[in-house]
Amino acid sequence: MQIQILPSLLAADLAHLGDEIRRVAEAGADALHLDIMDGHFVPNLSFAPDTSALCKKYLPGGFPINTHLMMTNPDKYAGRFIEKGSTTVQFHLEMREQIDVRALASEIRAKGARVGLVVNPDTPAEVVHPYLDCADEILCMTVFPGYGGQSFIADVLPKITAIRAMAPEMDIMVDGGVNFETAELAAAAGANAFVAGSFLFKQTDMKAAIEELRARCAAAFRAS
Ligand code: DX5
Ligand code: ZN
Repeated sequence: MQIQILPSLLAADLAHLGDEIRRVAEAGADALHLDIMDGHFVPNLSFAPDTSALCKKYLPGGFPINTHLMMTNPDKYAGRFIEKGSTTVQFHLEMREQIDVRALASEIRAKGARVGLVVNPDTPAEVVHPYLDCADEILCMTVFPGYGGQSFIADVLPKITAIRAMAPEMDIMVDGGVNFETAELAAAAGANAFVAGSFLFKQTDMKAAIEELRARCAAAFRAS
């Protein structure tokens, strides 16, 4: 499986957002991770659909924009993010009783984007199982969403292994508290895609850090 590294723009220097977006592509990342917080699903607020347009403006043509909707009503906004440039839309299965997961996944695919289904650290693998056919990737949160800079929750690792067993070909992503050591743990458990915010943006040489992260994850994933 292809190892993917996705810097999260949440940790960028907002005073130089255009330069920070360019830095992600120049550092050899596979995609940019854009965190959208609504003040309801999570207590914090972050970016809006226009930020996808800004990312598109500063990234090379076709560079993927992986958009993580931490929202109670992702169905109201998914289309707007895709129109502005998002190429993957991820939404949370904790909202599965309130939204029509299958209908939203179909809408996202019909609009030409990939579907990511997200589970919080305390949501079990069994919740993902019925929806595997409508997912292009599964995002296992390794922190409770809402803030960057939190510590990786290792209790999530067995769930990653369980989802890998259910879906051997699926892109399985982790998000939250990712650094060299925690990414290796997640890769050994079966993850092949890694979001990292504060760890990558604090690097003076993001390119070298991404190269090392990719190599370490590839080795740990192969050994798993
Ligand atoms: C958390 C977000 C993450 C966050 C990760 O709510 O979904 O994407 O930016 O930040 P770090 O890597 O600093 O934990
Ligand atoms: Zn995220």
